[in-house]
Amino acid sequence: MTEKDIYILGIESSCDDTSASVIHNGKVLSNIIANQEVHAKYGGVVPELASRAHQQNIVPVVQQAIEQANITKNQLSAIAFTRGPGLMGSLLVGTSFAKSLALGLNIPLIDVNHMQAHILAHFIKNEDKTPPFPFICLTISGGHTQIVKITNHFEMEILGETIDDAVGEAFDKTAKILGLPYPGGPLIDKYAKLGNPKAFQFTKPKVGNLDFSFSGLKTQILYFVQKNVKENPNFIKDNLNDICASIQYTIVKVLIEKLKNAIKQTGIKHIAIAGGVSANSEIRNRLQLAEKNWDWTTYIPKFEYTTDNAGMIAIAGYLKFLNNDYANNSISAKARLKVTD
Ligand code: KG4
Ligand code: ZN
Repeated sequence: MTEKDIYILGIESSCDDTSASVIHNGKVLSNIIANQEVHAKYGGVVPELASRAHQQNIVPVVQQAIEQANITKNQLSAIAFTRGPGLMGSLLVGTSFAKSLALGLNIPLIDVNHMQAHILAHFIKNEDKTPPFPFICLTISGGHTQIVKITNHFEMEILGETIDDAVGEAFDKTAKILGLPYPGGPLIDKYAKLGNPKAFQFTKPKVGNLDFSFSGLKTQILYFVQKNVKENPNFIKDNLNDICASIQYTIVKVLIEKLKNAIKQTGIKHIAIAGGVSANSEIRNRLQLAEKNWDWTTYIPKFEYTTDNAGMIAIAGYLKFLNNDYANNSISAKARLKVTD
């Protein structure tokens, strides 16, 4: 099909961010995100509260995305929405809204796999560079940790993944041990900037192949903190920056080592990162260094396309639109979906 003016509205509601984005021929015109502060005090996302907040946010967020894109809803070519994976109550809000809007406007509906969308964010035309096929993507988020080989936009193979906690969970759970609010990942990153990464040593998890494990590290940090707090009740406060820097250093070291193994195994040296944890400054710095010092070509998404956002849903929808790959209006949300589904 000829690329005339194709406007896609993307809608994301899989977890605790309500987001809507309009893209024009692959370029993001708007990417509105309403975060849900309500979960911070509970130490994690409360599904019932998330679903209710999505219901409150979805209409104003979509309206704002269309306004900021400076178009009218009648110019939209299709509506793309996150079908899964995610929290069922949250997914249902975006799914029902997208279905009704597509029906009302009489335009195609496109279902998007959230995990694929994190990776496909690299094809947003506002990005500086786009990876060539095949490339390797380290997808690191609150729910996933995977090394994926991408042969084509929608042809992916999981080369390795976590056997227990996701890396984002490792950040969030260790942050909770340190008394930090949810989500703790960005806070660990912030305090780590002021600390010494070699101050405390943690043993790296030993898992074969390209798989990961982070639950042992979390337990190790819990015992380490408990032991030290017994000796000095102010231990966390006195050493917060160093503890954060040491945790972050250990986690990022594991990620880089696995990427090295993936390169050895596949011979592919085009390396991308995606997902919320790809916002982490240490992993971003380490990849930039890898590109400078080794023969890797790295693809680091802009901050706004790392954590959950509808820009990535809209670009995935756009790529499916070009393939005339539409959903039926009877489609339902799916809490469990693999990146290969
Ligand atoms: O992709 P995402 O927004 O949601 C999921 O699909 O899970 O990822 C959220 C995760 C959370 O665990 C959060 O703590 C983590 O990404 N995260 C970070 C940083 N920013 C977000 N982890 C470490 N450093 C960061 N700067
Ligand atoms: Zn995500």
